[in-house]
Amino acid sequence: MKLIVLGAGSRGDVYARYATESGVEIAGVAEPNEERRQVFCEKYNVPQEKQFASWQEALAGEKYADAVVNSTLDRVHYESTMAALEKGYHVLLEKPMSPVESECRAMVEKAEEKGLVLMVCHVLRYAPFFEKLKELLDEKRIGEIVNFQLTENVVYWHFAHSFVRGNFRNEAVSSPWILAKSCHDLDLLVYLIGKECKKVTSIGNLMHFRPENAPPGAPKYCLDGCPHEKTCPHFAPALYLKQIKNVTWPTAMISTDTSFPARYEALKRGPYGRCVYHCDNDVVDHQSAIFEFEGGTTATFNMIGFSSENTRTLRVFGTKGDLRGHLEKGEIQLTDFLSGEKELIKIDYSTLISGHGGGDVRMTRDFLAAVAGEASSQKTSARVSLQSHLMAFAAERSRKEHRTIRI
Ligand SMILES: NC(=O)c1ccc[n+]([C@@H]2O[C@H](COP(=O)([O-])OP(=O)(O)OC[C@H]3O[C@@H](n4cnc5c(N)ncnc54)[C@H](O)[C@@H]3O)[C@@H](O)[C@H]2O)c1
Repeated sequence: MKLIVLGAGSRGDVYARYATESGVEIAGVAEPNEERRQVFCEKYNVPQEKQFASWQEALAGEKYADAVVNSTLDRVHYESTMAALEKGYHVLLEKPMSPVESECRAMVEKAEEKGLVLMVCHVLRYAPFFEKLKELLDEKRIGEIVNFQLTENVVYWHFAHSFVRGNFRNEAVSSPWILAKSCHDLDLLVYLIGKECKKVTSIGNLMHFRPENAPPGAPKYCLDGCPHEKTCPHFAPALYLKQIKNVTWPTAMISTDTSFPARYEALKRGPYGRCVYHCDNDVVDHQSAIFEFEGGTTATFNMIGFSSENTRTLRVFGTKGDLRGHLEKGEIQLTDFLSGEKELIKIDYSTLISGHGGGDVRMTRDFLAAVAGEASSQKTSARVSLQSHLMAFAAERSRKEHRTIRI
């Protein structure tokens, strides 16, 4: 099987790695950043004549692969996916599908019209933690779900990296946070509750990462002699210069050359060296939403960019019992009302390949199986993913218009 990767960034590399480990060839790549493109092409042996700077060039001419991995940034997803589907490629599309509702719908329709696989990277569906949770809920171990409480605890440095300094900081270049990051969570609610969402109310705002909250005398770049280097948890050199060898995400994102001097240079005037109070960010730093599903089940979802741990925590209240879960710890505790018995279920992470609790690699394999026409679990499809996107669009409208939105 052959794949074309559009966008050889952090996610493109993840999928290329898992696909090539399964024996798939990377037949072409589109990546405007020359240095990044070269590194990627060397790593995955991409033929010289199929190394392109844009998705338009990569998809021009005769079809030369089976599928496309679209790991470009949010606002590039729509046109490139439509072009790939038009050419007859199956597509693995990074979430969010698009920041525009009509574009999400159009991609679903195009894939269905062409009879092609269009899968959105809702990798958490494939994480054994959520698979186990789904099994318990489907077995009705806690009866009917009455209320689901899900919290996305984003560790403070991840929030600053991605949503204040980085790619997903600004709605105009990316998407609202509830779509960009939390379409995963909304997809999990749809998957785990197993019903359609009908209504949403949401509130939230950008409370902290604003210029008026900058401590006195904080310069625009941390390396310009910030007097708060010892007291600010977001001092960029403390985050991006402490790894010396084996530089990993998010440090690896600040410069293709991950040597210490190159990273130091990148922080001087690059986006990740900026003071968190002097960025062009406008996405919220915390948001809450309440959803009502068919049959009356309700769900609350909180996303918070100020957590000491990076995890999802949840409680589910059923008619016959309740359960609580902690993704990073891999723990689900179930209590049965009648017997009063408590059961602690542990997910064994030691055997899993990392990346979204084991979800990245499992989803990649599922997509490859679907493209090959083999039995695949196809836990997700673009039509299914559309639901979570509609919930995110509605939540954002509710937040901005201060009213409940029917979906
Ligand atoms: N599934 C997940 O859990 C998950 C996690 C993180 C990010 N994402 C999504 O993945 C996508 C990529 O994010 P990332 O973190 O890898 O970002 P990234 O910046 O590391 O990679 C994106 C790449 O796309 C390239 N690009 C930009 N315009 C292009 C064009 N016209 N043609 C081809 N390539 C182009 C950029 O140069 C960059 O290298 C985003 O949509 C993001 O929301 C998903």
